[in-house]
Amino acid sequence: MAEQPVPATAREWHLKARPNGWPVATDVALVEAPVRLPEPGEILVRNAYLSVDPYMRGRMNDVKSYAPPYQLDRPMDGGAVGYVAASAAEGFEVGDAVLHGQGWREYATVQAAHAVKVDASKAPLSYFLGVLGMPGLTAYAGLVSVAGIKPGDVVFVSGAAGAVGSLVGQIARLKGASRVVGSAGSAAKVAKLVDDYGFDAAFNYKEGPVREQLAKAAPEGIDVYFDNVGGEHLEAAIGALGVHGRAVLCGAIAQYNETAPSPGPRNLVQAIGKRLRIEGMLVGDHAALQPQFTAEVAGWLTDGGLRYDETSVEGIERMMDAFLGLMRGENTGKMVVRLAS
Ligand SMILES: NC(=O)c1ccc[n+]([C@@H]2O[C@H](COP(=O)([O-])OP(=O)(O)OC[C@H]3O[C@@H](n4cnc5c(N)ncnc54)[C@H](OP(=O)(O)O)[C@@H]3O)[C@@H](O)[C@H]2O)c1
Repeated sequence: MAEQPVPATAREWHLKARPNGWPVATDVALVEAPVRLPEPGEILVRNAYLSVDPYMRGRMNDVKSYAPPYQLDRPMDGGAVGYVAASAAEGFEVGDAVLHGQGWREYATVQAAHAVKVDASKAPLSYFLGVLGMPGLTAYAGLVSVAGIKPGDVVFVSGAAGAVGSLVGQIARLKGASRVVGSAGSAAKVAKLVDDYGFDAAFNYKEGPVREQLAKAAPEGIDVYFDNVGGEHLEAAIGALGVHGRAVLCGAIAQYNETAPSPGPRNLVQAIGKRLRIEGMLVGDHAALQPQFTAEVAGWLTDGGLRYDETSVEGIERMMDAFLGLMRGENTGKMVVRLAS
């Protein structure tokens, strides 16, 4: 087993209480804990970037879902990339860059079978948490596999300046959409959608009813709606979808911090007459698309066809700020936490 000096202890975030509505500072704690050296089949990773993602809010609740709830007084987890600091697993050497699922901590002792080596010479390491990672595959699979995007489609995406949404709009264009429309929560984000990401139209959902703003941005209606938000956005999109329109239900961030369930779209009955297909998706079901996704998206990044932004917060002590900032819309593109090297 090859090793390099590692600290005896390192910091990790624990869930201390289950939030009611928006999480507060006392729901979590940054704890100093012993670093466990790897046993056979394991590696020790010094994390370099940690991911904060909206689904983590659901895991703070004690409810049965597709991802298990975080346990109280235990470290939270999530996507992370870092460097192998010690290895007791065949095929992993000290210094290898890896992607794994034990984020929210500085050092992680990981089953090698649950880590994937990534090529840090091909792209910045943090990209494997974003455009070349889970959010990128979500955007790609949602459009290609779930929506079945076709040339000429008019596509509307909400949360359009975020990690998934910014890629949805651009991939839609690359796949031949005739018009791409996005909504986001600030004037700067709306400008970015049009100026940098090539959207045909964009609007700030905080400035007026989504239904009215969408009607102006897509006067002929839409063929595909990629839903990151739920609520009012979904209702407006159902109204704008044409016959045989498709809606991909990817996320409903407008509802994640609600304390009571919100009513469903009041116009769902339109799905009958318009023969809409409204389909939920989970990225985990689309692992088979990974090679095609990686090849196509890496190509677009190289030839400049795809723009990618990150918002980086420095230091593990600010990780909860980064998570809450993500929920409040302080990010453009993927929100990541960078740890000191
Ligand atoms: N189904 C899956 O497998 C899967 C996988 C990944 C992500 N997702 C979902 O996809 C969505 C986007 O995830 P992401 O990682 O790319 O996050 P993100 O879009 O980078 O960040 C979240 C964004 O949501 C927006 N937002 C917050 N509250 C809102 C509200 N009330 N109404 C409208 N927008 C609001 C904020 O932007 P503004 O400034 O524009 O408000 C914020 O920047 C989330 O719903 C997430 O749960 C699903």
